[in-house]
Amino acid sequence: MPDTLVTAAAPPVDLEPQLLALGRELSERRSPLHAATRGAYDRAMALAASDPQLRAALFRLVDVAPACAGSAELAEHLAAYLEELDEPAPPVALGTRAATSPLARRATGRVAATLVRSMAGRFIVGESVAAAAPVLGRLWQRNTAVTVDLLGEATVTPAEGEAYARRCHEALISLTAASKAWPERPLLERDGIGRLPRVNLSVKVTALTPLTRAEAPDRGRLDAARHLRALLRRAKELNAHLHVDMESMASRELILELVLDLLDEPEFADGPSTGLVLQAYLRDSEELLDRILERTAAAQRAVPLTVRLVKGAYWDHETIEAAQNGWTPPVWTDKAESDRCFERLTRRLLDAHPLVRTAIASHNLRSVAHAVAYARHVGLQPRDFELQVLRGLGDDLQDALAAAGLRGRTYCPVGDMVAGMAYLVRRLLENTSNTSFLASRASGSDLEELLRRP
Ligand code: FAD
Ligand code: 2OP
Repeated sequence: MPDTLVTAAAPPVDLEPQLLALGRELSERRSPLHAATRGAYDRAMALAASDPQLRAALFRLVDVAPACAGSAELAEHLAAYLEELDEPAPPVALGTRAATSPLARRATGRVAATLVRSMAGRFIVGESVAAAAPVLGRLWQRNTAVTVDLLGEATVTPAEGEAYARRCHEALISLTAASKAWPERPLLERDGIGRLPRVNLSVKVTALTPLTRAEAPDRGRLDAARHLRALLRRAKELNAHLHVDMESMASRELILELVLDLLDEPEFADGPSTGLVLQAYLRDSEELLDRILERTAAAQRAVPLTVRLVKGAYWDHETIEAAQNGWTPPVWTDKAESDRCFERLTRRLLDAHPLVRTAIASHNLRSVAHAVAYARHVGLQPRDFELQVLRGLGDDLQDALAAAGLRGRTYCPVGDMVAGMAYLVRRLLENTSNTSFLASRASGSDLEELLRRP
């Protein structure tokens, strides 16, 4: 492997003029199609942003959800729970205050549940893969690839882990069948390295095993490896792509080593196509990329690893946990640091082509335009890198990318509202933060300002 992959930073290249032009172009290409359905949701988000009690109630909803038999029970259960709550639970110490009277708590609980229900309709594609299949097919038809995420995480019993694994196998099989009817889309199906699978499933390791806790990493690894190995075999047999999401710091090392170790096993040397996630908000993310590139170069697999670059979805969790324990947070605490790190990692990943396939996952026009400008600068074709968005947040951008002839993929959660609670609350926290690109955009910030170098 050339040394430069691991040791040398990319030379600083000034791409600002190209980047600004691209940012403006993508902004202009945003489709008005999604604006009509956004009004009520935007108003609910603005309410959540301005109401600390509501945010506090939503935090609690994550803990309450597993006790609910179904989404219909969620509001009642939450109201009762809030009524009994004497002291705000630790996450509420985010500078928020719980509602003080039982009546106020009950009212807050109902509003919170209504808000989550409206979010669920926007962010979750369907309760089952069968229900989601028509939406996935329409996205493909409009020249956008998909990755399906079966909602679920932080499982507490081995039986739940088994059930999640079973659902993943079934999803791979039914998506393979559904995708046979999809029309040809050359940009989505082949890059300069080779074939890109139509079927792409994102999985969370903490949904596969209850044993990912830092104090029992070996047991967790064995249990997760058993499930993940079986899923890799299934993906290989069906020519599908399996992507392992990254979660909070507590499971970071386990997930990273687990995926890299499994891909070293001889039976996976020639497939399946597999991916993992790099989080730019981590202070040590550049060293993690060194490790990923070193291990990937040494493995010499026939199908390159896909690295999805994200900023990181657990920022609130990591900063609260660090504060509670007196640790230095593992994440940057200045948003601009995460943005700058994202750009450094973008360049290093694109420089590493074709050792790895790169997927840039962001709704931030500056981060996306930077990636496209740099990819063009190093001579990559549009088919040679991917841009990813989340369903419900990146719909505008997804259409703009397709219209601009760029290769896009939308992350499509599937499941019910109860399984999706933690996911929905992460989206809510992210998008009611005043540092968020999308929230700044929605509140009318100037595009030129938003495209400025972080
Ligand atoms: P921006 O508004 O530009 O960035 C928001 C992000 O900045 C926050 O999410 C946080 O990471 C960071 N941030 C916020 N405040 C601060 C601060 N004060 N200091 C430092 N940093 C701060 N995330 C995962 O963790 N694991 C995954 O597997 C994963 N998969 C994803 C898949 C797709 C397709 C997409 C689009 C996103 C995925 N994410 C994942 C979520 C991602 O990490 C971000 O949370 C989300 O995309 C928002 O970032 P942004 O670039 O779109 O927006
Ligand atoms: C999350 O679950 C998208 O993986 C990311 O928040």
